[in-house]
Amino acid sequence: MATRIGLAGLAVMGQNLALNIAEKGFPISVYNRTTSKVDETVQRAKKEGNLPVYGFHDPESFVNSIQKPRVIIMLVKAGAPVDQTIKTLSAYMEEGDCIIDGGNEWYENTERREKAVAERGLLYLGMGVSGGEEGARNGPSLMPGGSYKAYEYIKDILLKVAAQVPGSGPCVTYIGKGGSGNFVKMVHNGIEYGDMQLIAEAYDVLKSVGKLSNRELHAVFSEWNKGELLSFLIEITADIFKIEDDKGDGYLVDKVLDKTGMKGTGKWTVQQAAELSVPAPTIEASLDARFISGLKEERVQAAKVFKESGLCGDILTDQEIDKKQLIEDVRRALYASKICSYAQGMNLVRAKSMEKGWGLKLGELARIWKGGCIIRAIFLDRIKQAYDRNPDLPNLLVDPEFAKEMVERQSAWRRVVSLAVDSGISMPGMTASLAYFDSYRRERLPANLVQAQRDYFGAHTYERADFDGSFHTEWFKIAKSKL
Ligand code: 6PG
Repeated sequence: MATRIGLAGLAVMGQNLALNIAEKGFPISVYNRTTSKVDETVQRAKKEGNLPVYGFHDPESFVNSIQKPRVIIMLVKAGAPVDQTIKTLSAYMEEGDCIIDGGNEWYENTERREKAVAERGLLYLGMGVSGGEEGARNGPSLMPGGSYKAYEYIKDILLKVAAQVPGSGPCVTYIGKGGSGNFVKMVHNGIEYGDMQLIAEAYDVLKSVGKLSNRELHAVFSEWNKGELLSFLIEITADIFKIEDDKGDGYLVDKVLDKTGMKGTGKWTVQQAAELSVPAPTIEASLDARFISGLKEERVQAAKVFKESGLCGDILTDQEIDKKQLIEDVRRALYASKICSYAQGMNLVRAKSMEKGWGLKLGELARIWKGGCIIRAIFLDRIKQAYDRNPDLPNLLVDPEFAKEMVERQSAWRRVVSLAVDSGISMPGMTASLAYFDSYRRERLPANLVQAQRDYFGAHTYERADFDGSFHTEWFKIAKSKL
């Protein structure tokens, strides 16, 4: 009996997505170069309800077990392993079959592969899969881009497998042509980086200046997860603060080394923001924060140097803090800063969509991010409404509803950032977000001086605020002649 679909690559995401697909009633063939993973997946399928998962130890029998036109999802490491897997499987595939890459792939690699496999009559999709292990198993957010015909082949499966959000439907949509699916997933990850950094900074100021215990931090984040900050990342953060160390006293989070890893999608997002000249300071700050955290050994030495130079300790003030007020201020500052992170991500997607002619709809992206994915949050519903109200919204910050909320929160935001600056607590994400807000909302910025400087030393010319045209001034001669 032929299966409905195949999945190659049975690491954590692959195994869990295969079981999810089978559980939704679609018999699935699975294959993995390390065959023990195949057996492990089939065993799990039996244990989790005799799910229709059929394991194969060789690529040929794997491919031949799938009904035509065949659809095979790959969940292997981005880069060369994807090319290798395509080479192995396509040897047995036929015209009209389809390969889907579900990894965090660079979008141009997907566009290259789509063209390459088309020469053999094969269809190709690059599909972002977000939600981690739990999401893959019980409902991810899916971002397929590439061949629409291929999407039509598996739409029935994706609609069932994706996270289901009452009132707004399955968290999947056909994103667009080419590498648009991978690009949108990449930006999702960029927003995720920003979000995680902002939450870490909220934790830092509450713990370092507010002196909150882990128990109190758990209570605060749990409370925040009942209101406008309700989201997956706030929820897991509350959970993290209550987990005790199983290898010693105290809480596990306090034993985790402060050195961040990263697989690369956040870096790509920042590179693309620069390529597209789209300001994304919150996301950039989160990436730099990861880089600085990576300088752990240097920071240990630097702490000693500055201590010897008279700067004693982490925290520079021990002013009396009104804990209740601080908690509320941080909550407001975090919300406003997160909105900036999402605004920057949406602007990046739109800029790329215009450059590539993808025709992406930001409201639809907000919809499929409402469930399953790492950045799922209750305010995504209102982000969707903002873009539905005005698809050409220049920036989420100037949607009337969000603009009002930013104004209502900016005093608390400034109090938190000022307290952090006075206390020596680095808040790169929150300060970058506040600067983004303060720069974007001001009619006039000090860029006039930068223009004058550029024209002074480089004769790069400038425009005037009072009438049209391009101008150059002999600043040096005038300045010196006045001596
Ligand atoms: C998701 C996640 C996932 C990502 C991890 C690790 O949407 O499920 O974004 O795709 O790989 O979060 O990312 P970093 O190692 O770059 O932090």
